[in-house]
Amino acid sequence: MLSTGPELLRLLRLCFCVSLVLLSQVSGAKRDLKSACITCQQITDNFNKGFDRTAKQNFGGGNTAWEERKLSKYETSEIRLMEIVEGLCESSSFECNRMVEEHEEHFETWWFKRKTKHPDLHKWFCIETIKVCCPKGTFGPDCNACVGGSETPCHGNGMCDGDGSRGGNGKCSCNDGYTGEFCLDCSDGYFNEERNDTFSLCTECHTSCKTCTGATHQDCDECKEGWEEDDQEACVDVNECSKDPSPCKEDQFCLNTEGSYSCKACDKVCSGCTGAGPDNCQSCASGYQDTEGTCTDVDECHQSEPVCTKEHEDCINTEGSFVCVCSSGYEEKDGECVQTPQQDEAVESESPETTATQRGEL
Ligand SMILES: *[C@@H]1O[C@H](CO)[C@@H](O)[C@H](O)[C@H]1NC(C)=O
Repeated sequence: MLSTGPELLRLLRLCFCVSLVLLSQVSGAKRDLKSACITCQQITDNFNKGFDRTAKQNFGGGNTAWEERKLSKYETSEIRLMEIVEGLCESSSFECNRMVEEHEEHFETWWFKRKTKHPDLHKWFCIETIKVCCPKGTFGPDCNACVGGSETPCHGNGMCDGDGSRGGNGKCSCNDGYTGEFCLDCSDGYFNEERNDTFSLCTECHTSCKTCTGATHQDCDECKEGWEEDDQEACVDVNECSKDPSPCKEDQFCLNTEGSYSCKACDKVCSGCTGAGPDNCQSCASGYQDTEGTCTDVDECHQSEPVCTKEHEDCINTEGSFVCVCSSGYEEKDGECVQTPQQDEAVESESPETTATQRGEL
């Protein structure tokens, strides 16, 4: 009884693993159908490149008169074919090398027997012979026509899944601005400039429209957020900054933009502001005062009432504030400014006058 639990778990785990493996094989196989065609396309592209590359060569040394007679000319020779075949794959591409190895005899067949009858190697090799690709505009195991027809898949406004391969489902993923199974409908923000059963041209609406029937701000069906209908039923910008209360925080000012707004920090000399800089303050921040419409620093050290009131204390003005520091020769101790203890040489010297003189010289 006790062992039932763990065993059941183990069994469940096994089932789970097996189904995962099966699932990944199914999806892997689907992907493989598309990638097999891509690989084949690369192979035939490289074949054509190799064909051009070897066009001006000959046997290149060692070809005796016997060889010239016995073999056909280089142009149509097995040697040239081998040189082309060697350059078909990157050595690192497993799938490419496997495909070439598996079907090498087809290249010979095409080279010696079919070349004149089937000059298009991709068509003959990838589509008709090893059947990993389909003609353009078709997809899947039986090369069925894509949605919208093989002439103009997705009516020219999208990509057909698996187009040209033995994989995929033939359905459309539409380009920007287009939607629907056939990519003939326009997405929100676009309108049909032209449309019939097989053709559709969608154009972007004016920026103020969410949906529209034409190109201007008067053709909106619905305004986009940040825009509103005026009395001529055109969409115009909403001035968010004129709203009460303002959408921005107290230490910010509001900047209206087309279809939106932004909040920017006030200058640090301001307490509230209507714009950027020290001369757009509503009032001045503490430590600043209004001087002809601009907020400037208050010099607290030169006010009629002294702000640093302790003995042997100096005042230093700073931006927006001030600090009290002990005068030279004094240091802070328990909130008081006390004389700095004299240094060793000073202690050694006899009279306080000498010390003062020495300090003066320094
Ligand atoms: C649809 O419109 C396009 C472009 O205007 C045109 O070329 C095509 O012939 C039209 N097709 C039909 C069935 O009317």
